[in-house]
Amino acid sequence: MGNSFGTLFRISTWGESHGGGIGVVIDGCPPRLLLSEEDIQSELDRRRPGQSEITTPRKESDKATIVSGVYEGLTLGTPIAIYVPNGDHRPEAYKEMKDKFRPSHADFTYQTKFGIRNHEGGGRSSARETIGRVAAGAIAQKILKQANNIEVRAFIRRIHTIEAPEIKEFPSLEAVEASPVRCPHPETAEAMVNFIKKMRSKGDSVGGVIECRVKNLPVGLGVPVFDRLEADLAKAMLSLPATKGFEVGSGFAGTELIGSEHNDVFIEKDGHVGTATNRSGGVQGGISNGEELVFRVAFKPTATILQNQATVDSDGQETELMGRGRHDPCVLPRAVPIVESMAALVLVDHWMRHKAQCESFNF
Ligand SMILES: Cc1cc2nc3c(=O)[nH]c(=O)nc-3n(C[C@H](O)[C@H](O)[C@H](O)COP(=O)(O)O)c2cc1C
Repeated sequence: MGNSFGTLFRISTWGESHGGGIGVVIDGCPPRLLLSEEDIQSELDRRRPGQSEITTPRKESDKATIVSGVYEGLTLGTPIAIYVPNGDHRPEAYKEMKDKFRPSHADFTYQTKFGIRNHEGGGRSSARETIGRVAAGAIAQKILKQANNIEVRAFIRRIHTIEAPEIKEFPSLEAVEASPVRCPHPETAEAMVNFIKKMRSKGDSVGGVIECRVKNLPVGLGVPVFDRLEADLAKAMLSLPATKGFEVGSGFAGTELIGSEHNDVFIEKDGHVGTATNRSGGVQGGISNGEELVFRVAFKPTATILQNQATVDSDGQETELMGRGRHDPCVLPRAVPIVESMAALVLVDHWMRHKAQCESFNF
């Protein structure tokens, strides 16, 4: 019912903010993969709150425990369950939100759909849910790396109107992590950090665009017609809270070119077929073509702002709500590892599906 994702490498996440904890069950993980809690923790630490002066100051350590599916450091091929307890609860910050709906948050729709909601910390609509995705994504990234040295790298391309120039080389993890805003272009990163700080000091928020690139993908991942690679990536990305747009390769800007400018001509590249340019973003006909996969995801400004706003209460009466609590003035820096995780989950699933259908038999 909407809490599971993937076909052969399948995850189910559970838990709410301000509940007992958060977790994920991963079914279909290949057996005999070396896996430790440290593999998962390093990615969770990139996602957790309180990691820099431009994220929420909430102090959650987000320590992961592997509860099942691993024996003597190796995956068993059985379901892997990972559990992260919640901490640093401050339910009093959400008291007023019990009966008043935050503009552009999930309060009104959850309440109206389910007739009940855990309003503390946003409940299931909180981005705490993504802990399960990042824990599973850490495993998916490890599998991709071992399978074909595949690397998934996301970074912030734009905050509000501050945009980094096109990043030509595949950015290193060190370059992305060098700034708290996770933009590998140092001058732009500095301007972004200053802008986020300025918005935070006004009790306001800001959005932007994350770019994600994947290298060393083989030709063949993606299952036309409904499970085209870019269709599954779009679903994965738009399943993240606060996302508003997805584009692959040349995206919306590509519509301003004519065909002769836009086509990626085929060339011979180091003994195999490649393309001279990559406006396709590494996908043609819904199938990876061996070039770098390139896509971008738009995130809106954080809904909860520390300002007084017009709203309605649960009786439909017009009122005002003063935003309180410790919110991210910009969700993008913490969303970078989440985007990477969702991409890795889609790619491992498609890797397994491709091998099962196209490489199991020698007809
Ligand atoms: C990493 C991350 C952190 C977030 N932090 C906050 C936050 O502190 N406050 C807030 O109001 N929304 C935050 N959000 C967004 C909300 O979860 C989201 O806007 C809300 O669930 C409504 O869903 P929608 O924006 O997709 O419609 C965050 C999202 C992400 C991805």
